[in-house]
Amino acid sequence: MALERTLGIVKPDAVAKGHIGEILTTIEENDFRIVQLKMLRLSIQGTEAFYAVHKARPFFPDLVAFMTEGPVVAAVLERESAVAKWREVMGATNPADAREGTIRKRFASSIERNCVHGSDAAETAAQEISFFFSTAELL
Ligand code: RTP
Ligand code: MG
Repeated sequence: MALERTLGIVKPDAVAKGHIGEILTTIEENDFRIVQLKMLRLSIQGTEAFYAVHKARPFFPDLVAFMTEGPVVAAVLERESAVAKWREVMGATNPADAREGTIRKRFASSIERNCVHGSDAAETAAQEISFFFSTAELL
């Protein structure tokens, strides 16, 4: 099977709690190549655009407030079946439902403050990667 790329984000809760290193280690231990990496503070407008698919959901204002409360680390992750594998390594959206050993089980405190993001399909991965990284940065 061909190599695939996905977007991972270490969310503000995990950055604030000092889990960047452990999360990146977990990524590498699961045979992802970290193609690119950056730390930044998301804007409100940018976050609204990034999570536009959830605009009508009741949790949307809270999600935007959470994602903009502090810096995040965005990473382009590459391996076979990267999209599905990264979602498996992250665990379920709600840490209460996440499997033992997953990142969300280890570090998330609630369904909202769930420490990592992952793209949900190859097409959305390409869009999300281009939200954070220029073509030149991905050569
Ligand atoms: P993500 O997009 O961040 O990787 O998370 P996901 O696919 O597992 O979950 P999704 O349904 O796309 O939800 C996006 C993010 O919104 C927050 N959320 N809060 N309060 C709630 O009921 C609720 N539901 C979702 C979480 O931060 C979730 O990751
Ligand atoms: Mg999602």
